[in-house]
Amino acid sequence: MKIACTGRSRALGARIAEHLGAGVVETNLSRFPDGEIYLRTGSLDETTVVVGSLLSGDSLVELLLLIDACHRSEVLLVIPYLGYARQDREFKPGEPVSARAMAKALSHGVSRVVTVNVHKESVLSHFTVPASQVNLAPEVGDFIRGLTLENPLILAPDSGAAPFAAVVASQGGWEYDHLEKTRLSGEEVRVEPRKGGQWTGDVVLVDDIISTGVTLATAARMLHAQGAKGVHAVCVHGLFAGNALPLLRSAGIGQPAASDTIEGPNSLYSAAGPIAKRIKEYLADTHGKALSR
Ligand code: R5P
Repeated sequence: MKIACTGRSRALGARIAEHLGAGVVETNLSRFPDGEIYLRTGSLDETTVVVGSLLSGDSLVELLLLIDACHRSEVLLVIPYLGYARQDREFKPGEPVSARAMAKALSHGVSRVVTVNVHKESVLSHFTVPASQVNLAPEVGDFIRGLTLENPLILAPDSGAAPFAAVVASQGGWEYDHLEKTRLSGEEVRVEPRKGGQWTGDVVLVDDIISTGVTLATAARMLHAQGAKGVHAVCVHGLFAGNALPLLRSAGIGQPAASDTIEGPNSLYSAAGPIAKRIKEYLADTHGKALSR
């Protein structure tokens, strides 16, 4: 078994390879003069784990090309960040279900898909091959334990993230709650405590995605105004679009932490362990190939 990664998922791919005791296939990537992507992989084994986050049009093309280049082996596809998942239904007539379009396109030529904290689980049903997600809430809990805060409150910015916050909190026996969020526009939200909750200790905001940062910046401002001692933020997928980082800093969140599903300077913990575990389980089930580590 070998691991093949797209350009934006090289660090995570190498970490997954280390967990599995597998080699990484060298993949050379370049562009034709007209901008089209060209890639070429080194030699492959019977099974290839293709690792690539879906972040943009180019990353989709790169994934499709990489899957095709691996067509002589069985391909297990790991999509650490599944972009386009938030358009998971036709909100207005005439819109695509973008999550479905991506899932269908990425099902061809692969035997199985693994992703991480997908925005809504129902998206997985759009893949035409077995697809599952891993939940990084335990890893978020471990990361928070390393911050050595005294009795932090784990706080989700909305009810959708409340089950995630509950699992995170269970890792340290911490309290958890969630805020009520109303999205006013793509770049404006209102967040309010439930039942007039007020927090004066350390608060850790947890969410699946930080995109513009508006959700967590708005929550952090409210918490600071209430007298919170410190406000921290940990998410799974750190998109940090546009001015997200300065916005979060100005709201009193020093360094928001994210996993390496989207690699960047804020990737402070890794998704590699749970992804590798899921791959081992799959191989043990289907091939009887329990790996040695
Ligand atoms: C929404 O339901 C998600 O869980 C996140 O809260 C949202 O994507 C964050 O977006 P932003 O950082 O742009 O506020």
